[in-house]
Amino acid sequence: MCGIIGILGKQDVAAQLVDALKRLEYRGYDSAGVATVQNGALGRRRAEGKLRNLEARLGERPLPGATGIGHTRWATHGRPNESNAHPHATARLAVVHNGIIENFRELRAELEADGAAFESDTDTEVVVRLVDRELTRGKLPGEAVAAVLPRLRGAFALAFLFAGYDDLLIGARHGAPLAVGHGDGEMFLGSDALALAPFTDDILYLDEGDWVELDRQGAIIHDAGGFPVTRARQKIQPGAFLADKGNHRHFMAKEIHEQPEVVGRTIAHYVDMAALRVAFADPFPFDFKSLSRLTICACGTAYLAGYVARYWFEKLARLPVDIDVASEFRYREVPMTPGGLALFISQSGETADTLASLRYAKREGQHVLSVVNVATSTIARESDTTAATLAGPEIGVASTKAFTCQLAVLLALAVAAGRARGVLSADEERRIVEAMIGVPSLMTEALKREVDIEHLSRELAKASDVLYLGRGTSFPLALEGALKLKETSYIHAEGYAAGELKHGPIALVDEHMPVVVLAPPGELMEKTVSNIQEVAARGGRIILVGDARAAHEAALDTFATIEMPDVDPIVAPLVYALPVQLLAYHAAVFMGKDVDQPRNLAKSVTVE
Ligand code: AGP
Repeated sequence: MCGIIGILGKQDVAAQLVDALKRLEYRGYDSAGVATVQNGALGRRRAEGKLRNLEARLGERPLPGATGIGHTRWATHGRPNESNAHPHATARLAVVHNGIIENFRELRAELEADGAAFESDTDTEVVVRLVDRELTRGKLPGEAVAAVLPRLRGAFALAFLFAGYDDLLIGARHGAPLAVGHGDGEMFLGSDALALAPFTDDILYLDEGDWVELDRQGAIIHDAGGFPVTRARQKIQPGAFLADKGNHRHFMAKEIHEQPEVVGRTIAHYVDMAALRVAFADPFPFDFKSLSRLTICACGTAYLAGYVARYWFEKLARLPVDIDVASEFRYREVPMTPGGLALFISQSGETADTLASLRYAKREGQHVLSVVNVATSTIARESDTTAATLAGPEIGVASTKAFTCQLAVLLALAVAAGRARGVLSADEERRIVEAMIGVPSLMTEALKREVDIEHLSRELAKASDVLYLGRGTSFPLALEGALKLKETSYIHAEGYAAGELKHGPIALVDEHMPVVVLAPPGELMEKTVSNIQEVAARGGRIILVGDARAAHEAALDTFATIEMPDVDPIVAPLVYALPVQLLAYHAAVFMGKDVDQPRNLAKSVTVE
């Protein structure tokens, strides 16, 4: 994740830009830069490493100008060095960018065929050169940006500065947040309210697909269709910056909507976008090839992420998996072959049962690898190796973005294991990595179903019992959907393997029981649809989560369908997690529950 700041000020802004970037360093800090425009001329200073290096650079060569943009980088494409640092610029414009442009390779090829000479390895530079090309075709800055945005795929936020325009900033939001701040004769752009705190508490957040033209008198916001819109301005209360809900009523909603950005960032950390292969920075202190078995252990939602990963490790790496909830594992006294690998998953990194299980595994001579969201946590510190999820702080007790980030890391690990064990071809790896790179925009698409999902959540809210069904990796996702509903709305819900229904649970089905069926594309979709017919024949009310084909196949038997974008089956659990999260969230909101802090629960269960 990167930090963006833009200022239309009353005085030279370079120092203010750097101050704002200091508040954004939590978002990334492997390089930084600023650009300003003064009397129409663009100037730029960038530096590798910490912000103090940029400050030193500005001390050596001050940068005048009361209009500017700044960026602190967490590298996704291209090494963290000065030439890859933002802002990226031509003589006509400069841009700073947070997120991923998934189709940058094809855009770069098009531009290079057009004669463009690239100076960096970043995806961001394609944006600069596309807008530059529109300017040379005679478009005004706003027209040029509006022409380019529809060509970009991925989850990103952008801020633009133009030579010759001392009173103009342009910003765009597509899957990553961007805030607009109103000052007194000044205007601001920033990745979040925290960045703008030193300048103003009068904030608005752009909506998905919005782009905005700022001058010192105010902001003109255009929606994805190009139509002028207004967005609600809010007064950010002092101290709220520590945990800012953005435009959302609850942290859970904010964190559900952050998933395109944070999952994109996590995926980018573990794949080489250019070579389309998985890439872990450091070699593992164990050899996947020598493993005869992998042990996976966690609690709650983290356990269910591991349960999904079991399918991936067994299918992609041909590695048998033993998986258990930590509260059982820690007392099973499992005999373990020394030199094996035990994988622990934890958002907080402090869960007592998981930590106790980790310590047991170490006593049994296992290599310990943990997937954690808090790099300084106890579980991380006691592991031989960690693979971090980059979800950022997760405040809502019900885990959402941490879950999908865990899935992203686990899929990368399964691919790395498959390659190391010589059972996954380079072509297959490329296909999987391409599918991973496309996940953020598929998540953005899935979130566009929120209005329908909110309406359907009323059906769940009226029920006393709900069943979730799935096969393959959709079975643990059905368990997760049931867990989300239980812990946020207190409705009894069960997840079941769809094929298991006829062995008992179908006796539960009647016209009062909603049945949520997860049927993503893949070899099991047809079988899942046939399970739907079993349920419908007994009056069950099916809410299908599936693509257009599944919807068509099950049309006669479903009460309602949440129609999902086409996905590669391998990444279905990441994308299909969003509707089950939203169903639970909106059911709980409709019922007036304490969504972010459900009764009886804690964010981190540090006791047995
Ligand atoms: C998830 O929605 C729950 N709040 C809970 O099951 C959680 O996943 C579990 O307690 C594990 O927490 P951890 O990931 O911090 O170890």
